[in-house]
Amino acid sequence: MAEWKNGEPKFSFSTVTDFDAHISTEIRGYEILDEIVVGLAGAIMQSGTNVYDIGCSTGRLINTLASLVASEEDESRRKSVNFIGVEPNRNFVSSFSILEGRVSFLREKVSPATRFSNASLITSIFTFQFIPVHERQEIARNIHSALTPNGAFILAEKVYAKDGYLEHLLDDRHISFKREHRSAEEVLGKKHQLQAIMHPLTLDGNLLLLEKAGFDRYEVFWRVNNFVAMIAVRS
Ligand SMILES: C[S@@+](CC[C@H](N)C(=O)[O-])C[C@H]1O[C@@H](n2cnc3c(N)ncnc32)[C@H](O)[C@@H]1O
Repeated sequence: MAEWKNGEPKFSFSTVTDFDAHISTEIRGYEILDEIVVGLAGAIMQSGTNVYDIGCSTGRLINTLASLVASEEDESRRKSVNFIGVEPNRNFVSSFSILEGRVSFLREKVSPATRFSNASLITSIFTFQFIPVHERQEIARNIHSALTPNGAFILAEKVYAKDGYLEHLLDDRHISFKREHRSAEEVLGKKHQLQAIMHPLTLDGNLLLLEKAGFDRYEVFWRVNNFVAMIAVRS
């Protein structure tokens, strides 16, 4: 999983194999979150709009959403929702498989220059935390502007607790879960490697990001330890 740089291991998504299995051993309750996201998406996606997944890795979620709509009775929704996965990582891009005709993939890093349009749903599942902090506000504003009325942004993130003692307790629970699947050395090594590329905010920091982007309707709908998922709806 690690590349080497200046004699030090450096985490890179480009070397993770079987990513879908990997992430569910990284985040406790990931499968339940996934089920809830798909359920919410079923109610949110609208005919004649685009659905984006930012940081779609293998394309699993965007393909699932496309399959969900493709299996529906409602022909207008079946024939008029487009699904777009965005993923910069070469490793994942080379293994994308398009399960439905209405899915496409963009091989790019989402940045303030990225243009989303006519979207009823945009998801970012543990991806914003890898985007430079100074870029997130403008991206969130662009997401808000691209949503149709009642369109939603689903944002899942690792967060830091506001209090040092609580951060310690919750992080310890997370480490204990990871130890069920990995050696202490691997867990510590990855934590160290991620420091350079992953920059979580607090939950309040994320909610403020949403508010400043223009959202005045939002809720937390899932949380396990320091992993949180929020939904924000455009008025
Ligand atoms: C923790 S993984 C989560 C992947 C996927 N959303 C899931 O839940 O399985 C983070 C993903 O974000 C991608 N990523 C990192 N920076 C990105 C950016 N600026 N724009 C789009 N994707 C990015 C990584 O390559 C990786 O696939």
